Amino acid sequence: MSHKISRKEFIARGTAAVAGAMVLPAVEAMTPADKRIKVAVIGCGSVSNMYLPHLSKSPFVELVSTCDIIFDRAKKQAEKFNVPNQYDHIDKLLKGAPFDLMVNLTNMQEHGRLNRQALMAGIHVWSEKPMANTYKEGKELLDLSRQRGLRIWGAPAVVNSPQFAFMSQAIRAGKLGKVSSAHAHYGHLGPTWSAFFYEQGGGSLPDLGVYNLATLTGLLGPARSVMAMTSIVTPERTTDNKGKIPVVAEDNAMVLMDHGNGVLSHVQCGFNYFDPYGHEGEGQDRPTISIWGTHGNMALIGYDWAPFGVDLSTHDHEQTVRYVKDAAPYVWEMGASVICESLATGKEPLINAEHALHVLEIIESARKSQETGTRIALTSTFPYPVVR
Ligand SMILES: NC(=O)c1ccc[n+]([C@@H]2O[C@H](COP(=O)([O-])OP(=O)(O)OC[C@H]3O[C@@H](n4cnc5c(N)ncnc54)[C@H](O)[C@@H]3O)[C@@H](O)[C@H]2O)c1
Repeated sequence: MSHKISRKEFIARGTAAVAGAMVLPAVEAMTPADKRIKVAVIGCGSVSNMYLPHLSKSPFVELVSTCDIIFDRAKKQAEKFNVPNQYDHIDKLLKGAPFDLMVNLTNMQEHGRLNRQALMAGIHVWSEKPMANTYKEGKELLDLSRQRGLRIWGAPAVVNSPQFAFMSQAIRAGKLGKVSSAHAHYGHLGPTWSAFFYEQGGGSLPDLGVYNLATLTGLLGPARSVMAMTSIVTPERTTDNKGKIPVVAEDNAMVLMDHGNGVLSHVQCGFNYFDPYGHEGEGQDRPTISIWGTHGNMALIGYDWAPFGVDLSTHDHEQTVRYVKDAAPYVWEMGASVICESLATGKEPLINAEHALHVLEIIESARKSQETGTRIALTSTFPYPVVR
């Protein structure tokens, strides 16, 4: 018997299946058009130049609308990527052509507010980092999505790389013996195109440290407590959209995490790192993440958002061997496309909202630790291990 269902019902069932609540009907029963998730992109600035090409090539995506308060940007990206509708305000976007998933690529400070509006309108959300401005706000958004039978996810997508999977499996297979310590770093001289990176709610932790924090917690498990020091190295910046501005958010950070069972790790990030690889990170061929244990050590080569190898040296094979030399098909901008595939097929992604919220709580706690000079206990956790 042919089991045809409506597109809306399909997406709703897909969502339930992703949430682990229901088995999907046979996918053969759908027409290819039914399987495409209708996507609206809000925020058509720098990062949209990476997301839109990826989304436009996905067999699971139909690009329906673009939106930007600078309307010209929405129009230009729509024209370039053949997107039929453009808006200059989220209210108009939500009342306009129907869609299933909002991809939020706006200023960090806008994420919480816009993500809430989308959920209230019955729309799934993929958000660039951070998912919300505070951990409390992010938790409320996750609760709201659950109440409404919707899903919300937040960048980064580092857990999708084959290098992450290799490292995770090596740790779990005991290749390093008892894991004791890890270090990660990411920095450059800071973006120039938008002031929000340096304003209240911006900062090097949610823009840069977020990748390393997601990788190390993803590999070593949820952190139990955090101690940190943060500072401002460059008190004034010249930005393309606002000219000279005072720097309010930290542009330099050192974060220590306790993962329990004796495992300690350290992340450093900042907007004052001379880095010959620049913002693009191209050509970075040295380790940026190192993990040590009693029987071996392991290093991720390249940045965790653009990795291309893992060096492993063990008690049984002391000479370092480089594994997973090709990152394909992983690219950092793939997060929203992965989520569309997930919504269309019912396959639960590795990216997890609770993980993104845990990282947000770490960032908030790092700042609290700097303010108070104390160690901050964390309350959040997430399903671990990430790669099973
Ligand atoms: N640029 C990158 O390389 C990069 C990489 C990864 C992640 N990110 C993240 O992506 C997000 C955007 O960064 P970006 O570099 O593209 O910034 P950007 O300033 O280039 O773009 C942001 C866009 O959002 C628009 N916008 C702001 N508020 C809006 C609102 N309320 N409604 C509609 N549009 C609104 C702005 O007009 C702007 O065009 C940030 O969270 C950033 O951390 C950026």
